[in-house]
Formats: sequence, structure tokens, C-alpha cells
Amino acid sequence: MDAQIERWTERYDNSEGYLFGKEPNAFLVSQKACFAPGMQVLSVADGEGRNSVWLAQQGADVLAVEAVPRAVEKARQLAAERGVTVSHACVDLLTWDWGEERFDAIVAIFIQFAGPEQRAQMFANMQRALKPGGLLLLEGYGLKQLGYGTGGPKDPANLYSTELLGEAFADLEILHLAEYDAHIEEGSGHSGMSALIDLRARKPEAPSAAPPSR
Ligand SMILES: C[S@@+](CC[C@H](N)C(=O)[O-])C[C@H]1O[C@@H](n2cnc3c(N)ncnc32)[C@H](O)[C@@H]1O
Repeated sequence: MDAQIERWTERYDNSEGYLFGKEPNAFLVSQKACFAPGMQVLSVADGEGRNSVWLAQQGADVLAVEAVPRAVEKARQLAAERGVTVSHACVDLLTWDWGEERFDAIVAIFIQFAGPEQRAQMFANMQRALKPGGLLLLEGYGLKQLGYGTGGPKDPANLYSTELLGEAFADLEILHLAEYDAHIEEGSGHSGMSALIDLRARKPEAPSAAPPSR
């Protein structure tokens, strides 16, 4: 088993309740206007389901992917408790087949389990899996988070900067890319003053066919 998945399995096994709470991530909620009923949405490394449940409540057709069986089980419980339907897949995102042009939106909240090489591979897969015109919504911690110590990876290589994200998603239209500090309360896992980076980007529409030559 991948070392990160093993670490997360232990973390979920040893946590009471919902590690990141049952309420959706604040950045995701701030992007509510991006979602409409019937949209095909992927929730990446969805954890215990707080974000996929909120997406389903917006009327989206949600696929939640996550590697740890215990987290998926709790995500299923949360969806049932809130009376919404979410499709779940228990997969390792480093080997999963993301597919091509499948999703109207991809939501990637705190998915910093991957180091630079695996992250580059995942970011490329996300871009391929978006439909033309599809949206990527991503939030993660910046380097300054090491000083706050209120959640997130300890390895600086796993943290983001606006430059890193701008370069990684240069093929997308960057609609919003911001680095800021905010106090968040998202379960015991993410609690306190935090150094955050948010990204909203759109995959360009396919170029329209050339006009017929006369
Ligand atoms: C910080 S948590 C965030 C969970 C969720 N996105 C949220 O905001 O509540 C990171 C998640 O990544 C998952 N994860 C770690 N390695 C993974 C992998 N290789 N494939 C899929 N998920 C993985 C962990 O199990 C964990 O649920």
C-alpha cells in the first residue's frame, strides 16, 4: 500500500467523528454560483464526504473518489443522513484511470498528499478529465502554513505557491488565483489561522471548426 494511504488509513482509524467535519469547505461554498443541477462533478480525494454531499445538494451528479475504505464508508453514511445521492469509488488516485473530457467541474480541496512528481501527474490527469469549458476548483495550503501548523502536510514539497499553480495550469484560463490567510474551522483536522491558496480555472472550449473555404 502507498505510504500516504497507509498514513491516512491510520489517521481515520484513530479519529473520533468526522476529521474535517460534516460541513463543506468554505472556499467551495463561496463558489456556489459555479454549480447547476445535472452537472457532472468529480470530488477528488473526497475524504469523509463533506464536499461531495454539499455538491449533491446543489443538484450535481457527483462522483467522489477516495483511497481509504473507512473514509468512504463515512462519506456514504453522511450522504444517507443528508438524503442525497453520491457515487463513490474507493481508488488510489495515483493509479486510477481519470478518463477524458468526463466532468463539467473538478473539485480538489486539500489534496496535498502527493509530492511534486505525483502531483504533476494528477494535475495533468485533472486537466484531461475536464470537458472543454469545464471548471477546476482547487484549494490548498501555501508554504507559510508550515509556520501556522494548523493542518496540512509537513513536507514543503507538497505545499503550493501561486507561481506553482499558475505554471501547472497554464493551459487553463485562470479565473481566480489568490493567496491569503484566514481562520478556518473545518473539523479537528483543519482548525485555526491558515495560509490558503485558491484557484478557479476553466478549460478552454475546443477551437471551433474552420469556416468552409469558398
Ligand atoms: C486532507 S484530506 C482532505 C479530504 C477532503 N478533500 C476534505 O476536504 O474534506 C486528504 C485526503 O486524501 C486522501 N488520499 C491520500 N492519498 C490518496 C490517494 N493516493 N488516492 C486517493 N485519495 C488519497 C486521504 O485519504 C484523505 O482523505
